[in-house]
Amino acid sequence: MIEPTDYPDLGALLPRLAGIPTLPADAVEAEHTAILGRKSGILTAALKTLASLPVDERKRYGAAVNRLKARFEAAFAERAEALAAERRRHEAAGADLTMPGRRQWVGAEHPVTKVVDEIVGIFRELGFAVATGPEVETEWYNFLALNFPADHPAMDMHDTLYLDAPAAAGEPGGRLLLRTHTSPVQIRTMQASPPPVRVVIPGMVYRNDAMDASHLPAFSQIEGLAVDEGISFVDLKATLTHFAHRFFSPTTRTRFRPSFFPFTEPSAEMDVECQLCHGGGCPACKGSGWMEILGCGMVHPAVLENCGLDSERYTGWAFGMGPHRIALLRYGVPDIRLLLGGDMRFLAAVGRPGRTRADG
Ligand code: PHE
Repeated sequence: MIEPTDYPDLGALLPRLAGIPTLPADAVEAEHTAILGRKSGILTAALKTLASLPVDERKRYGAAVNRLKARFEAAFAERAEALAAERRRHEAAGADLTMPGRRQWVGAEHPVTKVVDEIVGIFRELGFAVATGPEVETEWYNFLALNFPADHPAMDMHDTLYLDAPAAAGEPGGRLLLRTHTSPVQIRTMQASPPPVRVVIPGMVYRNDAMDASHLPAFSQIEGLAVDEGISFVDLKATLTHFAHRFFSPTTRTRFRPSFFPFTEPSAEMDVECQLCHGGGCPACKGSGWMEILGCGMVHPAVLENCGLDSERYTGWAFGMGPHRIALLRYGVPDIRLLLGGDMRFLAAVGRPGRTRADG
């Protein structure tokens, strides 16, 4: 019996014959053409050489080629049947193999997270440390220590969510509540360490507000506090103006308007030029050309004294801003509720979209 191995050209095909049972579906056809194709298949070509061989050799070689060809044909037929069976199994299991592959989402930073990190980063460059405090506070930390008069309507400014639970023993001051601002962490910071103090305090705050295009019942704030000897309003203004230039742009104009907070005196609100119209006036800034970004002021002497600090010796300034609001200004987002949704069209539009692995 003549074996394919008697002929080196046929013997060389045996590894390819052995590979057919494991050929991937998309490679079967090309391999079939390469071996058995009518125009340039290797075995087809071998058969074409028979005519030029002596009779004896023609018989032996021809038989060897034909037997190998039959084995290839059987192997291809078997492979095709196995692949068809596999496909039927997947179809029965509900997988549609003609569907394009699903691209994998890579997470992206939320615009508010980006804004918080950037703001904190700018103040860190200036030597501020990061502090945090509890979201469940007492009336004393949230209001009274901050110079809100007890039962004064000033407390109504902050529509407060009270907790139906008694305060822990030893905590100063009355009912428990969800903090309405990050300012109570001013008190905790001054209690914890003597001046000089320079901290920024990021965190969530809560108010009994209905949700609409510009209000959320839970939103972020970043508090700033600097307390030392000889600190003046000049430090406040210079630092916050520097901040606005770093965060928005070096040419962004700022202005300070007088305001009122129980815990600062004097108090101000800082505006930056509208990031959409750059001062010309547009619907986003209600035609004024300005957008309010923070409240600030010199720490009220009563607040320093409530923390046991000598208000004759120490002065300080503080600010509070809302990263959710600032994200709206920066990215020109018309509705704050978009920041809570998972709408990929929105996230793709505000900077770093969730890219896919397929996008690279
Ligand atoms: N806590 C104030 C608010 O929530 C903001 C503020 C902080 C104002 C610090 C002055 C100083 O509106």
